[in-house]
Amino acid sequence: MLTGKRILLIIGGGIAAYKSLELIRRLRERGADVVPVMTEAAGQFVTPMSVTALAGNPVHSDLFDLGTEAEMGHIQLSRVADLVVVAPATAHLMARMAQGMADDLATTLLLATDTPVLIAPAMNVRMWEHPATQRNLATLLGDGITCTGPDEGDMACGEYGPGRLAEPLAIVEAIEARLADGPLKGRRVLVTSGPTHEPIDPVRYIANRSSGAQGTAIAAALSALGADVDFITGPADVPPPQGVRVIPVETAAQMMDAVQQSLPCDAAVFAAAVADWCVAGASSSKIKKKAGKLPTLEFAENPDILAHVAQLKRDRPRLVVGFAAETDDVIANATAKRARKGCDWILANDVSPETGIMGGTENAVHLITEDGHDSWPRMTKDLVARKLAARIAEALA
Ligand code: CTP
Repeated sequence: MLTGKRILLIIGGGIAAYKSLELIRRLRERGADVVPVMTEAAGQFVTPMSVTALAGNPVHSDLFDLGTEAEMGHIQLSRVADLVVVAPATAHLMARMAQGMADDLATTLLLATDTPVLIAPAMNVRMWEHPATQRNLATLLGDGITCTGPDEGDMACGEYGPGRLAEPLAIVEAIEARLADGPLKGRRVLVTSGPTHEPIDPVRYIANRSSGAQGTAIAAALSALGADVDFITGPADVPPPQGVRVIPVETAAQMMDAVQQSLPCDAAVFAAAVADWCVAGASSSKIKKKAGKLPTLEFAENPDILAHVAQLKRDRPRLVVGFAAETDDVIANATAKRARKGCDWILANDVSPETGIMGGTENAVHLITEDGHDSWPRMTKDLVARKLAARIAEALA
């Protein structure tokens, strides 16, 4: 139910705008108060009269409307909602949002709001698949905006593929999920994820086989429980989760800086496979091949981010969780690592090639705490993430 929740619904100008009428009805059936905003183009597809009548609230559409500005300024309008929903979010509207433009009421509200935003894109399949739209989507997800849909199917333009507005009931479900008061609501958590790349010269680097799948799943699971997540990720194979603040980094040193900037927080999960060494004095120009002469690389130690945060006197998160990727004596080595680094928990896994864990979809972990260890059966990385998120919620309760 959405009783007592106020939704600021921004209707973009696309053929799917007609579905926003049904969305308004479904939201009101569940007790939501819907404050509608239409872009100028939306008025070509649905009338302000129908929107106002169904919402039971006047539609806002003009940035320079003196009457409404006197009653409720547009800045205040952007703040009165529990959630801002953009449906349909057209390619043009997404582009303006990604650019941070404020050239009409809808984009001004989106720029001024401090409440969470959910978009439901709808557009022609080629427009959806265009690299520019996908770039804008990545920017918006990185800003912490949640996205639902688009669906795949026959489209009004006669083409077939992804681009159809999600069904109104699916949008309602996404809204309910975004507004759910999870046990981690109000908690700030940081998650490091993925590999780091340590440059040798501008074109070569040292990396490792981490895909970022486990860290991504953990960030998504924490966010689903209501946490406010800073997701600090190296160059991973899997896309970042939705609804979290994505902070992309490349090297261990950059990851350390990003982590320090994310403090203080309530809990920190260090799932990144951070390179232990960087190349000392990496070359700023490409190292050329010289006949009969092999280059030698000198290494320098990277900062141990987990140990640094776990041993902070001020700003230490209440719960610091590390990972241990081991190939031998997994539990003994991980138990020693927990003590050495000073963290509260270690999730230890066996990354021997025959386990298929590194880069795979499953994981078999042992949770090491001060009370000993708890071995979890082999399960998907998503399930490991949800189990861990639930344990974190218990620990912070
Ligand atoms: N870690 C980190 N910063 C580093 C190295 C590791 O934050 N420079 C974190 C990882 O994210 C992980 C944990 O430390 O949570 C364990 O990393 P691991 O590489 O297994 O531990 P090491 O101390 O490097 O031990 P070893 O390589 O000898 O097993």
